[in-house]
Order: sequence, then C-alpha cells, then structure tokens
Amino acid sequence: MKPKLSPARRRLAAPSTKLLCLLIVMTLGSLAPVAAASTSPEEQQTWITLGADAFATIQQDIDVTLGHQPLTKFDERSDVVLTRVPTSDLADISAKIHTAHRRCGGFMAHSTLRQAQETLSRVDAPNRGAPIVYTLDQQPRVRQLASRIQEAPILATMTSLSTDFNNRYHAHPSGTSASQWIRNQWQGYAFSRPDVVVELVSHPGETSQPSVVLTIPGTTLPNEVIILGAHLDSIAGGTSNPDFLAPGADDDASGIAVLSEVIRVALAEGFSPQRTVSFMGYAAEEVGLVGSQAIAADYRAAGTNVVAVLQFDLAAFNGSTEDFGLLSDFTNSTLTTFVAQLIDTYQPDLLWTSTACGYGCSDHAAWHNQGYPTAMPTEARFGEHNQTIHSTSDTVATLGDSAAHAAKFARLGMAFMVEIGIDAGGEIFANDFEEGSTNGWSSIAP
Ligand code: BES
Ligand code: ZN
Repeated sequence: MKPKLSPARRRLAAPSTKLLCLLIVMTLGSLAPVAAASTSPEEQQTWITLGADAFATIQQDIDVTLGHQPLTKFDERSDVVLTRVPTSDLADISAKIHTAHRRCGGFMAHSTLRQAQETLSRVDAPNRGAPIVYTLDQQPRVRQLASRIQEAPILATMTSLSTDFNNRYHAHPSGTSASQWIRNQWQGYAFSRPDVVVELVSHPGETSQPSVVLTIPGTTLPNEVIILGAHLDSIAGGTSNPDFLAPGADDDASGIAVLSEVIRVALAEGFSPQRTVSFMGYAAEEVGLVGSQAIAADYRAAGTNVVAVLQFDLAAFNGSTEDFGLLSDFTNSTLTTFVAQLIDTYQPDLLWTSTACGYGCSDHAAWHNQGYPTAMPTEARFGEHNQTIHSTSDTVATLGDSAAHAAKFARLGMAFMVEIGIDAGGEIFANDFEEGSTNGWSSIAP
C-alpha cells in the first residue's frame, strides 16, 4: 500500500480524536484505487487486513454489515484476517473497531488483493530476512555510552517540538519548519564530525514535508545499514486551519527526542560504528506512513542491505506495569527477541511485555512490508498507551513534565546501535584513522 493524500483529506476539519481516526481510515480507503473485484458490480469494495478479534467484532455487527453480504474471511495468518468490505462501510468499521478495541484505524486498506496477500504473508513469516546474527558482545562500550544519556535534553527536545510549533502537520508550513528545526539540531550535534551527513529528504508528489536523515557511515561494513527511526509529524483535529494545535509531545516528539539524545551522546563520545547507522525522522506518518514508505521503497529499489530497523513511536507515557511494550506484529521476531535481551542485559530492573497494534500502526510497518527486519518498543501495552495522542492535550504536562520514561528508550536505542553497529571485532574510533592505527577498543573508558 502506498497511500496518496486525497484533496478531500486536506479540506476536512476533524474536531475530535475519534473522528480524526475515521478520517484517516477513510483516506486510506479512498486512497486505494479499490481495484478489488466486487461481489456486486456497482458497489466498490476494498481489501483490508485486520486482527482476528476485530474481524469477529465487525462480522457480528449487524449495523455495519446491514444491507450487505456477510463478511467473508478470505485468508487468516497468525490472527490477522484478510477480508473485503464495501468501501462505503470503512468509516463505520473503523468506528466499531475504535469503540470495541480502542484502536485508531485498526486495519490496513490495500490497493489490490496481491498487496493484501503480501502483507499477510509477511505477518506469518516474521523471521524471514534476518540477514545477520545479532550478537551481544559490546558491554563495556554500551555501558559507557548509555551512562551519558540524560533526561534534560530529551525533555528539552519534546518541549521545543510541542510548543515552538502550533503543529507539525505534514501539509502545513509549520510541519516543514519542524523538519528544518530537527535537521539543524542534528547538524549541531554533528558539528565536529565531517564524516556524518545530515540531510532533508523530500517526497515530491507525496507531501511537502521532508524527512530528516542523519547518517554515520560504517567504517568496515558500510554496506550493512542499521536504521533508528521516529516520525516527526503530528496531527489533531482542525487540520484545515494551518494554525491548529497539535503538540504531539508524546506522538511522536518523544521518539524524535530519543533519537536526538542517542545522536548527541554517540557523536560527543566519538562513536564510529563498523556498520552504517542512519537516524530517520519520518515525514507524514500520521496520514499513512508516507515518508517511511517512500524511503523504504527507495532502499528496496536500490537493493540496500538494511540489517535492522528500530522504530520509536510513543516513548514518554508510562501507562503499563511493564516499561516497554514490544510489538509482535509487523516486526521480526528474531530482532524483537534481541531487543528484549538488550533490555534484560542493560536495564535489568525494567520489564517488557509483548503487545500488538493489530494493524500497521507506525513506520516499522513500512520497512516490514519491504521485507526488512524491524522491531518497535513502545511506551505501554497497546490500549494502555497515552490516550491524549492526536489531541491538543498531548503535551509535556500530560507526561508529567518528565522524560524519565523516554530515557529508558534512549538507553535501549544506544544499546541497539552499538551492539548491532559493531561486529565482534570491535569499533574503530573516529579519531583513530591515522595510518597504521588499530581499532580503538582498548581506549574505551571504563
Ligand atoms: N503513534 C501512533 C501509533 C501507535 C498507537 C503506537 C498506539 C502505539 C500505540 C501513530 O502515530 C498513529 O497514529 N498511527 C495511525 C495509523 C497510521 C497508518 C496512520 C493509527 O494508529 O491510527
Ligand atoms: Zn499518531
């Protein structure tokens, strides 16, 4: 699925979170050309994939299916169902799922049956395509770098992004200003690192908002790429007004702030991985994973060997007994297990649990759908996450003016980057490039 933004989407004002969810799904539905063969020729149908529980809910709902054929389950893999629904029912179905399962959207719409089947087959094969063995052998370096992570810069980034811009909506000038602000911040961190590249990546024909990418080139394995990402846009009701408020402090300034802190510490400490590491602030996630889908498709087309992708979306609201919810859908189970090991090893007092959105709820799904291994740690079990997202109340005040929870994700991100970025042979330091130098492993501070 590669959604395009319909003009109707931009015109619509969405006064409530619930309605906003509907509009997103309506857009996704209308974006899809709806080429699916129809049971009745005059009625447009859309292929969707959704959780088996959500399928059962809408199947039972006489209001939603009233006047239509009963829903057919065309396929099912790992509790994800493929079905076909009248396009005109998409909004009702979304509302039903939202009410019954507290999912916003709650399903993925697909342009063709083939795309729907591809999505389903990947759900069923989460281990396919783990291209390297993930090893845990960099403990001194991880501990040294993770100990430098601070809450204050994370809170500062969340505060700036959620208060210096009315919104970071993809189609408004403030959304582009936010991209530029992040680019400037990241350039500041890379000031003394000429090897590090910071760029705006535009998405012509898709959105006016650019994504932001910072790349630390790998020293000895530069063709093996690790990606840490978060989405930089925000959304809330009233998108037709360029000045509407969508602070998005948690969704997903928290993810950007986590990336920023990992970058800040890594570059300040002269970290130079063997594998290439890219940090990505994705544009236009809230309107259908637009930036990440464009980038992931480009990487696939170029044959880029992405060995691991980590997504941070919602990191600052401590809503569950456990500290991390590790998504089990649209992710790679080998990489997710490795992320759990990173938590157990480096933050042993913290708890994680497995959870699922039930649909491709964030940018990890864009990479997953291109066949790349992804993992996504999020702030809570799905449903116990911050309920103010997509509203004017998604502020740092709602997060208790604290980045304590988000700092756990920054430490995890650091561990992920170092452990996968460095092969067992060790790291070469940025300042160790003189002729004849060996790698800098022995110079690591305790
Ligand atoms: N931050 C959410 C995804 C999310 C929700 C993660 C709950 C963890 C718990 C994301 O920004 C979002 O809103 N996604 C959309 C779907 C997307 C394809 C437009 C959603 O959930 O409706
Ligand atoms: Zn969101």
